[in-house]
Amino acid sequence: MDSNLKNLLAELEAFGQSNDGAVKERPGRMLNITRDTGELLSVLVRSTGARRILEIGTSNGYSTLWLADAARSVGGTVTTVELSRFKIELAQANFSRSALTDHIRQVEADAGGVLRAAQDDSVDLIFLDSERSEYSGWWPDVRRVLRPGGLLVVDNATSHRDEMAAFMALVGADSQFHTCLVPVGNGEFLATKNR
Ligand SMILES: C[S@@+](CC[C@H](N)C(=O)[O-])C[C@H]1O[C@@H](n2cnc3c(N)ncnc32)[C@H](O)[C@@H]1O
Repeated sequence: MDSNLKNLLAELEAFGQSNDGAVKERPGRMLNITRDTGELLSVLVRSTGARRILEIGTSNGYSTLWLADAARSVGGTVTTVELSRFKIELAQANFSRSALTDHIRQVEADAGGVLRAAQDDSVDLIFLDSERSEYSGWWPDVRRVLRPGGLLVVDNATSHRDEMAAFMALVGADSQFHTCLVPVGNGEFLATKNR
């Protein structure tokens, strides 16, 4: 990772912590992944060679930068979906300070619609970090859009275990998927689709 990106990520970590410490309303909070989750995502993208990456929940782009840096190393791109105009603009400003803009496509939309419109088997890796109450409803499209051998990563599997329980049970019961829980950061639920 180049020093410019390292510095940008460190700055965003500090900003996220001070902002979220002061702001209580969810729309104004950054709710970023932890640094070690970023490192895990980086290793997963690099080791699987995932080139078509779909992120649901951009916020101000902290996790996107981790994904995009890894995507660049394998010749890939991150499509990142966000509803909030405020956060899209923050993310855009952060991306413009990186050398990764050629590897990031921002989509301003409801993730449910984006998933419904996506083609079968068209994504190598999906990173789900958004509205947890929607996940079970999105699952039929998530499983359809992920290519065989593709990987789903979902944040907050241990920090919000109760809210995630029904979704993790749904995916765990699907015979087309193998799952595990990685105790890194806020807990990452991983599910890979059978080849
Ligand atoms: C936990 S934050 C994402 C944090 C980001 N992945 C990071 O680590 O830097 C969740 C984001 O999902 C967005 N969001 C919530 N519901 C959404 C939906 N239906 N479609 C798209 N984005 C949504 C929120 O506006 C919020 O910015």
